[in-house]
Amino acid sequence: MPVITEIADLKRIYKRRVPKMFYDYCESGSWTEQTFRENTSDFDKIYLRQRVALDMANRNTATKMIGQDVSMPVALAPVGLTGMQHYDGEIMAARAAEKFGVPFCLSTMSICSIEDVASHTSKPFWMQVYTLKDDDFMQRLFDRAKEAKCSAAVITVDLQLMGQRHKDIKNGLSAPPKLTPASVANMMTKVQWGLGMLSTKRRFFGNIVGHAKGVTDPSSLSTWTAEAFDQSLDWDRIREFRKMWDGPLIIKGIMDVRDAREALNVGADAIVVSNHGGRQLDGALSSIRALEPIVDAVGDKIEVHIDSGIRSGQDVLKATALGAKGCWIGRAYVYGLGAMGQKGVTQALEVIHKELSASMGLCGHRDITKLDRDILMVPKGFSGDWA
Ligand code: GLV
Repeated sequence: MPVITEIADLKRIYKRRVPKMFYDYCESGSWTEQTFRENTSDFDKIYLRQRVALDMANRNTATKMIGQDVSMPVALAPVGLTGMQHYDGEIMAARAAEKFGVPFCLSTMSICSIEDVASHTSKPFWMQVYTLKDDDFMQRLFDRAKEAKCSAAVITVDLQLMGQRHKDIKNGLSAPPKLTPASVANMMTKVQWGLGMLSTKRRFFGNIVGHAKGVTDPSSLSTWTAEAFDQSLDWDRIREFRKMWDGPLIIKGIMDVRDAREALNVGADAIVVSNHGGRQLDGALSSIRALEPIVDAVGDKIEVHIDSGIRSGQDVLKATALGAKGCWIGRAYVYGLGAMGQKGVTQALEVIHKELSASMGLCGHRDITKLDRDILMVPKGFSGDWA
């Protein structure tokens, strides 16, 4: 077994084991991928201030996210098609998260259904919902999440229309996937992945087929998805969703102070500063650059979280010191999942936790709840001085 010391180790194994079309789905941004790249590279522009001769023993990374206890301020972000990265992927990731004491958020576009994940886990998870036109489907989704005892709903507001990812088109990755000869040939070489897939019956969008009106089989799904997303979404519509769900609500996909204020007015409990992993508006600022002005504007009234670009505990430390109360990881755990299932997700969390704890200590801090911006050296104008 290879020794895993960093997220990049998991990524290397993941790339070897999983069919190219699913690797590419995970590892791409929209159009030129500028935002996708800068989401990670902008973290490197922030420096940590090293301190010495300060007590670094007995460090604490435990805190709360939306009032729920977490062993570190990290959540597993909703990722579509996770069950194609590894058989029963959502169940495995959810189990790894609950053992580690961090939230797992299930995507609407998951392979394992809400009910399936609920019956294979023992702690409540969070449920992500898209802003779709189909009222009946939306209400049912919230009701199903309630029934499954989900402890938060996460509304993704940045996908009214889809940013183009070139590789997905070339690979025939749509809903449902259209297999090209090249994809099939590549899949045949991924023996372990294929055997795993053959061992499960969970190979299709478990939350959609049989639940959305008129979608009774995979072939009717493409028509439904083509029409499902609501391009005319507005905050009044989001207020309607707020009424459909009376539990904790998180709004994900905020990049602008004005939108953060709207989310606050709608009655959200938290927002996630996110550009959807660089998969939507290419040319948007990286999330880490967008974070601080949003924290400054609404951070005393609502929890501000972040996703997009987090690949290490040092990244978590930097975002936390800038005011994020939660850091969501997507790709970093999918690499682990594709590499070695549940164990790989656990390893990804362990890597991040160790990096976070040690780096916090080396900055002279012992308690994540008492971190402040003083541990950082942020370049002047990092968040921009835009005309
Ligand atoms: C869906 O949310 C995606 O980013 O593919």
